[in-house]
Amino acid sequence: MISPRAALLMILSGACAHAAPQEANYDESKVPEYTLPDPLVTVDGSHVTTPEMWRERRRPEVLRLFEEHVYGRTPDRTLDVTFEEMSRDEAALGGKATRTEVTAYFTADTSGPRMSMLIFRPNDVEGAAPAFLGLNFSGNHTVTDDEAVAMNTGWMRPASAAGVVDNRATEESRGKSASRWAVETIVDRGYALATIYCGDLDPDYDDGFENGVHPLFYEPGQTAPAAGEWGTIGAWSWGLSRALDYFEQDDAIDATRVAVMGHSRLGKTSLWAGAQDERFALVISNDSGCGGAALARRRFGETVGRINTSFPHWFCRNHRHYNNAEDDLPVDQHMLIALMAPRPVYVASAAEDQWADPRGEFLGALGADSVYRLLGTDGMDADEMPDVEQPVTSRIGYHVRAGGHDVTDYDWERYLDFADKHMR
Ligand code: GCU
Repeated sequence: MISPRAALLMILSGACAHAAPQEANYDESKVPEYTLPDPLVTVDGSHVTTPEMWRERRRPEVLRLFEEHVYGRTPDRTLDVTFEEMSRDEAALGGKATRTEVTAYFTADTSGPRMSMLIFRPNDVEGAAPAFLGLNFSGNHTVTDDEAVAMNTGWMRPASAAGVVDNRATEESRGKSASRWAVETIVDRGYALATIYCGDLDPDYDDGFENGVHPLFYEPGQTAPAAGEWGTIGAWSWGLSRALDYFEQDDAIDATRVAVMGHSRLGKTSLWAGAQDERFALVISNDSGCGGAALARRRFGETVGRINTSFPHWFCRNHRHYNNAEDDLPVDQHMLIALMAPRPVYVASAAEDQWADPRGEFLGALGADSVYRLLGTDGMDADEMPDVEQPVTSRIGYHVRAGGHDVTDYDWERYLDFADKHMR
């Protein structure tokens, strides 16, 4: 029980709106009634009837709404990023791949914020290879057992099971997330894989945006992003685009055939990256849940209020206005997926991952269908959520896998099939 004084203080400080919301709902019959905003109706009520009208009017409008109310605006200013190859092994994976590590320096000060990319490129692909690009949770050295990969020395979220001690990686952590990255299968199927530790761009905790890339963009006197400016998901997405800049100047990878993929918080990020940067040829969201593919208005599992309380740094500050007020949002997540149109997009769920609301993720993907069809594609070839492991492979792809919150070989095989179909 909170004291009357504490309750009064909470009201005065406006904390009530942000207070920990009620228990998560996992009961489909308790999902409230809601009306989704129509992706094909503009803010002033005009109906979008042609691809040109989508492209010129509605798409920029929807993108701005997501900037202003959800993820925050990414600064327009470009930095003079330089890339340096730090290591190369042309006989990686038993000779199948060339492994390189490339550092991107964001300023002339090479000790300042920078990101390290780990790239595996199949040796038997002639010319530039298509690629998958994704951020990882705990350092590039966790993706593979290859001991030559540099250990990340940055801040890590605590995870003793992943060999993180005192917020730093230890030797124990090598290869700890290898099961989530089907490196060899990806290479065998003729794709490169590039990955970056998300914490290189912004460590995943709420420090008021002192570390990470945000300060590189502050105006004189500015000490934190404004209410409508980017948070951590924005910074992570920005880094994915810088990797794409590198591919544009590197012959080994075909920058016009890069699929951006992410799991969970990094799946929210792959969607936001794909929405902002149309150079990404294909976009994949794995179990991205709230703030990713799942419809916010369903309030099933994790909610807007809950996520903004637990992770106040992920979204922009304006997003907190929608804590326990999802119906006031001028967008919902189906409109984020529509921002990928007409590019192929794939949303994946896991049946036991109720926190991420699998049905809400499916409905998010389905809700983008009208835009995909207006743009002349087959949209999503399903009206109902498919059964477990019955993938839908139309331009909007979807599957729900058996099991829990994770990335498995099953997921990767579907992404590879989908890329073979839509990005080859
Ligand atoms: C938490 C968080 C989710 C997020 C997930 C993850 O569960 O609530 O929103 O997707 O972490 O990134 O693994």
